[in-house]
Amino acid sequence: MEIRQISVDERLTTTFPLQAYAFSPSPLPEEEVERYRKRLRYFETTTCLIAEEAGETLAAAASLPMRQNVRGLVHDMAGIAGVVSHPSARRRGLVRELLTRLLRQTREQGCTVSALYPFRPSFYARFGYVGIPHSRKARFTPESLSELLRRDLPGSVERVPIREGFPAYDGLQHRLLAERHGFAVFDETRAAEFREDRLWVALARVGDEVVGGVRYRIDDHGGDLLGSNLFSTSPLGRALLLQFFARHVDQVSTIEVFLGADEFPELWGTDMTVTTSATVDSPNHNAPMVRVLDVPGLAGSLVGSGGITVEVVGDELIGGVWELGADDGQLTVKPGGTPSATLTAGGFSALAYGALDPAEVVTRGLGELDADAMGRLGALFPRRMPYLFAEF
Ligand SMILES: CC(C)(COP(=O)(O)OP(=O)(O)OC[C@H]1O[C@@H](n2cnc3c(N)ncnc32)[C@H](O)[C@@H]1OP(=O)(O)O)[C@@H](O)C(=O)NCCC(=O)NCCS
Repeated sequence: MEIRQISVDERLTTTFPLQAYAFSPSPLPEEEVERYRKRLRYFETTTCLIAEEAGETLAAAASLPMRQNVRGLVHDMAGIAGVVSHPSARRRGLVRELLTRLLRQTREQGCTVSALYPFRPSFYARFGYVGIPHSRKARFTPESLSELLRRDLPGSVERVPIREGFPAYDGLQHRLLAERHGFAVFDETRAAEFREDRLWVALARVGDEVVGGVRYRIDDHGGDLLGSNLFSTSPLGRALLLQFFARHVDQVSTIEVFLGADEFPELWGTDMTVTTSATVDSPNHNAPMVRVLDVPGLAGSLVGSGGITVEVVGDELIGGVWELGADDGQLTVKPGGTPSATLTAGGFSALAYGALDPAEVVTRGLGELDADAMGRLGALFPRRMPYLFAEF
């Protein structure tokens, strides 16, 4: 068995048959092959490793170059995707070998963190990943927002096809990347595909500044307005977009948008009729998972106060003893020292991302911490909900 990195041109004959079998209705209609071939240009910057035996591809794993904000620092992030093995080659450790090499390689290339959407979280927990919140879906009636129609908000909303509005929408995403914990973006090559979607984008502006954006389509007259993520830099940006949606009363019956887990649509108005939900199940609706690939790379993150020396165990990439501190609210990291707490890679990542409290790290079996260590880790890494979105 040989592992090698392939170029994008080789994907059609190596990874595509495996992925088509694993992730699509199968056998795949012939026209889908052509569709995939056309999409390959969006994956030119993706790193793809395959395991081969006698010229046959048995397994594959890929990493998309992305960037993510973790506690105020924007990192290079490995977005893991296309993890697959041939049914007759499963449970032979091929994917373990591929993923281990891929994560090592992406870290060498400068990635500090990694994220993915798992088919089954316990599979990726074996590789040091830990869950972060799923985005929420808010489903509400346009009538709920009617009071916004009477409000004179200082801004405007423009509706254009995404192809036309893409530069402004992309600019908004990059602004949120700099400002919002957990937010991640694709590189230009991968993101270009989203410009081609048959969708509208509503862009909220105050003066020349884009303060909100949401991609959407309407499925029918009297039907649903199906939005993707409702992005805004402030409550005003959000209110401008909602006011625009309110004008769809008697045109659509329901509006749907996706949001970070820390948003409360019931507070958007007085008479809201809204259902906010997140369905999590395997294999298609799991919450994202993340992990840290490089502890010193986190230095400078915006943290709390105090300090502690921890040992991260059972992980090739971040295993070892780390003296963690806070210098005026910015994380400091030094290797070595005498540890007073033990964490798995998942436990450390959960704290670094603010997804779990130290007491939860213990109850989840992701670390051994006494009361003092829990207090120190809680002070250093206050809980802070990351928002990692996917395009719908
Ligand atoms: C999931 C999949 C990629 C696993 O590939 P594989 O070649 O069997 O994986 P490996 O043999 O390298 O197993 C790696 C580890 O995961 C465990 N594992 C394998 N399948 C698992 C599953 N379905 N659930 C939980 N753990 C699993 C193995 O026991 C092994 O554990 P260990 O190394 O700690 O002992 C393969 O079953 C597949 O292609 N499935 C369909 C496509 C898919 O769902 N891909 C994932 C998309 S996110």
